[in-house]
Amino acid sequence: MAREPRPSHSGQDSWGFATRALHIGQGPDPATGAVVQPIHLATTFAQQGVGQHKGFEYSRSGNPTRAALEECLAGLEDAKHSLAFASGLAAETTLLLLLSPGDHVVYMEDVYGGTFRLFDKVLKRYGLTFSAVDAGDVDAVERSITPATRLVWLESPTNPLLRVVDIDAVSEVAHSHGAMVCVDNTFATPYLQQPLRLGADLVVHSSTKYIGGHSDVVGGAIMTNNDELEKQLRFNQNAVGAVPSPFDCWLLLRGIKTLALRVERQSLNATEVAAALEKNKAVKRVHYPGLASHPGRAVASRQMRMFGGMVSFEVDDEATALRTLGRLKLFALAESLGAVESLAEHPSRMTHASMPVSERKRAGVGDGLIRLSVGVEDVADLIADLESALA
Ligand SMILES: Cc1ncc(COP(=O)(O)O)c(C=O)c1O
Repeated sequence: MAREPRPSHSGQDSWGFATRALHIGQGPDPATGAVVQPIHLATTFAQQGVGQHKGFEYSRSGNPTRAALEECLAGLEDAKHSLAFASGLAAETTLLLLLSPGDHVVYMEDVYGGTFRLFDKVLKRYGLTFSAVDAGDVDAVERSITPATRLVWLESPTNPLLRVVDIDAVSEVAHSHGAMVCVDNTFATPYLQQPLRLGADLVVHSSTKYIGGHSDVVGGAIMTNNDELEKQLRFNQNAVGAVPSPFDCWLLLRGIKTLALRVERQSLNATEVAAALEKNKAVKRVHYPGLASHPGRAVASRQMRMFGGMVSFEVDDEATALRTLGRLKLFALAESLGAVESLAEHPSRMTHASMPVSERKRAGVGDGLIRLSVGVEDVADLIADLESALA
């Protein structure tokens, strides 16, 4: 039985998501009245006397355009704090630097390939240890926790198999063992799912994806309600220095204004695309949390507003997958996801190529798997494109 959601921290409980997206951190500029946030390119800020300034000293440690974005991002996740970064992986790296040599991390086995690479090829060298688990099985998560476990790292829905994790149940187990929970909420978006309100301690985003939404900016974010974690993260953000440019912050603020509209349409389109693929004889299996056949549908219905814009499906083998991808006309063959235009890709050769074959196979990422990021086009055109590519 799920608990009541944790309280909102944005201080705007009465505002709906779309209103918060447009009005938190996005209001008229107090200095000029401009209804669009200015882009502050200055790297340094004049002080009236030593240490006497208006909140900004040097742009790595703080910048007004980034501060507006961070306020807006916190509002999206109903969080107390948010920090913006130059990419999703920059956010992840900065967050993982909260840990110390000897600490152990339990992670969902089909995490994004780049996250796996960061764990396996970079952070292991600094004395962190990692265990993969099917976090859809809460008992399996509990069995993987050791006295050294400080963090449980989740994605839900996962990339690329759209598995669903019960964030509330896993958080309860992790907390009972003194471990924190971080959810990579990139696929779901804060419009569909708010992990902090489901019990997670930290949320990360690749804002390159749905938050930006137009395939024109790389960015990342961390959100938390924990003041102590925020203090350490703020220190790491400045000490490590992986911060976004003011122009990138501005592009993200612009993209966020339509986040709710885009994700709603993408979710509706993906629901129809998944249903059409499930009826197609060339398709062996469709992974979409909104399908009745999806094992995580009940949990997804509880913790998500809609089922999202990502769909993956399996065809017979790699040759069939590559042929299908080559025939698509509207879906661009490209990495990344979450933008207004539809994209298709082959996880085992593209987004998840950085995972060793054995890890990929264990996670169930086969060579016949195709991943779709469904955009906002007319859905009948998208379905026709897929059907002719599969014929
Ligand atoms: C789920 C997920 N998390 C994190 C990342 C990394 O984000 P970025 O590419 O912005 O560094 C990606 C990138 O594809 C992703 O799909």
